[in-house]
Amino acid sequence: MEIDIRPATLEDIPYITTIFRDTIVHVNSKDYSDKQIRVWSSGANDIENWEERIKNTYFIVAEYRETIVGFAYLTKGYYFDGLFVHKDFQHKGIGTNLMRIIESKVISEGFEIIKSDVSITALPFFENQYYDVEKKQVKNIKGMNFENYLVSKEL
Ligand SMILES: CC(C)(COP(=O)(O)OP(=O)(O)OC[C@H]1O[C@@H](n2cnc3c(N)ncnc32)[C@H](O)[C@@H]1OP(=O)(O)O)[C@@H](O)C(=O)NCCC(=O)NCCS
Repeated sequence: MEIDIRPATLEDIPYITTIFRDTIVHVNSKDYSDKQIRVWSSGANDIENWEERIKNTYFIVAEYRETIVGFAYLTKGYYFDGLFVHKDFQHKGIGTNLMRIIESKVISEGFEIIKSDVSITALPFFENQYYDVEKKQVKNIKGMNFENYLVSKEL
């Protein structure tokens, strides 16, 4: 599968937010309650937040035949803050591809460790990519608690 990876632009926001919402609703919904899914996916509507992320983080998108099928972003040079793959393009290697580029960026920034907060859904994927669980934690999104895991990997 021929995947191109490039930096995100502000014009990508409608595609990025659609993937964010649909992936949470269709993929993460197996591990979180309906109410949690509603609150979490509503983050797709915070357009200013997405603009700020694209402008101020290392934000990349994966394209298949010029359609965005996944995205990832890195903050502070070492914190892997988001990784989402289109619900219809799961298990095709796109997540691994995005992760490799993010990890290369961390190395090029001079860091030797990458950290992330990962969902219950994504934990097996991160563990298979040699990330270690530092702790199980509760993250608050818009006043609602979400169980997730702080993970890290030495690069
Ligand atoms: C976690 C996530 C990003 C992984 O993305 P993905 O593109 O499906 O990841 P990959 O395809 O690279 O790898 C997934 C699995 O598919 C397998 N795979 C990869 N290419 C494959 C192929 N061509 N055929 C069959 N299986 C394949 C991988 O071996 C991997 O197996 P593993 O999870 O047991 O290690 C994706 O499932 C997702 O968007 N999850 C919901 C959002 C989320 O929770 N994000 C985490 C941050 S909160």
